[in-house]
Amino acid sequence: ATVAIALGTRPEIIKLSPVIRECERRDINYELIHTGQHYSDNLDQVFFDQLELPDPDHHLQVGSKSHGKQTGEMIAGIEDILLDVEPEVLLVQGDTNSVLAGAIAASKLDVALGHVEAGLRSFDREMPEETNRVLTDHVGDYLFAPTETSADYLRDEGIDDKRIHVTGNTVVDAVGRHRELAAEKSSVLDDLGVAVGEFALLTAHRAENVDERDRFAELLTGVARAASSLDLDVVYPIHPRAESRLNEFDLDVPDRIHLVEPQEYLDFLELERTARLIFTDSGGVQEEACILGVPCVTLRENTERPETVDVGANRLVGTDPQTIHDGALAMTNSTTDWENPFGDGTASEQIMATLRQTHSVRTIQ
Ligand code: UD1
Ligand code: UDP
Repeated sequence: ATVAIALGTRPEIIKLSPVIRECERRDINYELIHTGQHYSDNLDQVFFDQLELPDPDHHLQVGSKSHGKQTGEMIAGIEDILLDVEPEVLLVQGDTNSVLAGAIAASKLDVALGHVEAGLRSFDREMPEETNRVLTDHVGDYLFAPTETSADYLRDEGIDDKRIHVTGNTVVDAVGRHRELAAEKSSVLDDLGVAVGEFALLTAHRAENVDERDRFAELLTGVARAASSLDLDVVYPIHPRAESRLNEFDLDVPDRIHLVEPQEYLDFLELERTARLIFTDSGGVQEEACILGVPCVTLRENTERPETVDVGANRLVGTDPQTIHDGALAMTNSTTDWENPFGDGTASEQIMATLRQTHSVRTIQ
């Protein structure tokens, strides 16, 4: 194979889907490696089906484990596959443990490493994702930065300009391809009994928010308080990590907040597009809200997507209930005519074109 693509979690499947499609379009020989970091049907298989992706050629089935065990098993597994397949380049996307594992495996072999969504920084070293981003960028050969801001962060860390390519974010490619399809096909609003513009959408799954009882409780209180002032019901498709914490902590979920299963991509896009407001601690959801023109309130103290805040699409509110309340009210009162900072939806084309131009990937069409 010429290119190997490693993925392991829901956001990687979604954001690499346009890259996989681009490989198909250019008739590039590629091998798909799934680490198995996500394995529940509704975080995994459902996206392969809906995005019409081929089954992985290799599946490591690593599953949920401590950081060290999970990442270690993935490094060993990816290394075996790379030694066997001998690709010219390995592509990884984002900031999960699957990404770090791919980065370490490739960097010790004669395989170039391409990092899709390079250069994001929260500057919060408590986040496991920040460690994964920094380490991956420093061993990467092709750093596909979504914006000039992320390219600047890489330059500031002393990374050679030759390794940096600003392409936009593949999330724009994915949203562009699916937003109308979602509007046409999804019946999620009827299914959940909500109406366009009359509900808020919530996702919260970040370890630092849900693994601590008091913080998770405050976050829910704040969202419910804001929803009550705005007279909105809240739909919360709950990530299994958050669900298991709710049960473990025996937390009461306020009445305004309605827990639902993790949603399929088209249904989730339709919920995002039609929500009055989005509360989230997810990276991808901050970007999609910005692209879809829906105001976003981020339940964190920092973000590695500052572009969304700069254009006025997003506000950082942390988890203090009153700050969440006030931020939500301010965002619903502001205008939504910002520009999408994440590119024109050709990131995956630019990524493959860049690889083609280089000597290391001579066989790419
Ligand atoms: C991971 C990423 C995070 C990303 C998120 C996307 C890391 C360090 N974290 O977090 O950056 O935002 O994916 O959703 O890589 N679980 C299931 N089924 C699954 C997977 C997980 O039930 O298919 C449950 C398990 O109880 C598991 C917990 O979720 O212990 C956490 O899973 P893990 O893969 O460790 O991290 P995420 O929280 O999913
Ligand atoms: N998503 C989805 N269904 C859901 C919640 C999220 O399809 O119920 C999609 C969402 O559209 C986005 C991605 O999953 O593309 C974000 O993944 P997640 O929040 O798990 O991870 P993060 O982006 O924070 O790493």
